Amino acid sequence: MQQSKGAQIVRGKTKVLYECIGEPERLIVEQMDAITAGDGARRDVISGKGRLAALTTSRVFRFLNRRGLPTHYLGGGEDVDENAMLVRRCAMIPLEVVVRGIVAGSYAKRYPDVQRGSRLDPHVVEFFLKDDEHHDPMIAVEEIVARGIARPEEVERMSELARATFDALEEAWRERSVTLVDLKVEFGRLTEGGRNGELVLADVVDNDSWRIWPQGREQAMLDKQIYRNLERRDAKALARVKRAYEEVAEAVAGFDAR
Ligand code: C5P
Repeated sequence: MQQSKGAQIVRGKTKVLYECIGEPERLIVEQMDAITAGDGARRDVISGKGRLAALTTSRVFRFLNRRGLPTHYLGGGEDVDENAMLVRRCAMIPLEVVVRGIVAGSYAKRYPDVQRGSRLDPHVVEFFLKDDEHHDPMIAVEEIVARGIARPEEVERMSELARATFDALEEAWRERSVTLVDLKVEFGRLTEGGRNGELVLADVVDNDSWRIWPQGREQAMLDKQIYRNLERRDAKALARVKRAYEEVAEAVAGFDAR
């Protein structure tokens, strides 16, 4: 990537955003080797994880761009010795938008009477407020609007784009006999002149953002849930997590094929 990193704007749990020198409407995203769960309560460092996350995100965003889904991704993330991704600058909306095709995770906890692993048709879209301190509580659409987080038509657009993203990724994974169970995406409003205010998929979509079950088998999972479930986080266990991330980064490279 040609662009040079400017001042650091924000440092999250697993990534850092920098200004892009000479390009006020662009940012550089670097993903770190940290892996966290439980709103940061569990944290480890897996050497090379940032690079795998950047590979995965850039490949997924490139695939989504090609499918006509608007994302903030412009380029990078696949350079040999860097994991810097160039993105359009956005004002982030502090929501996690989750799409579920199969009952798992917090949905299964919330509705213990619903059979875990069963299909949700149509897919269910849920909104969570980004607020680690309060463990990202679920938020109703009316509340999103009432609190001025997003306008009604924006909520509608986020649901529509999140569903379409899920559908595209579900199909790509299905071709590899992998079931996309659920997915979390985030949105931003572009700040750039001509497209000011336009909603785009932002942040990252990587192996931390979804649940994926090869052959539909939960025990064969390849995503971050492996890490969340670890009882002992020793070198051997973390190496197993890394292998899953490598496998996923490689698999999503094929998403671009057509
Ligand atoms: O935990 P829950 O079932 O609500 O998660 C739904 C989906 O959102 C999962 O794919 C999970 O990996 C993802 N997620 C995420 N970041 C969070 C919470 C959930 O990427 N903070």
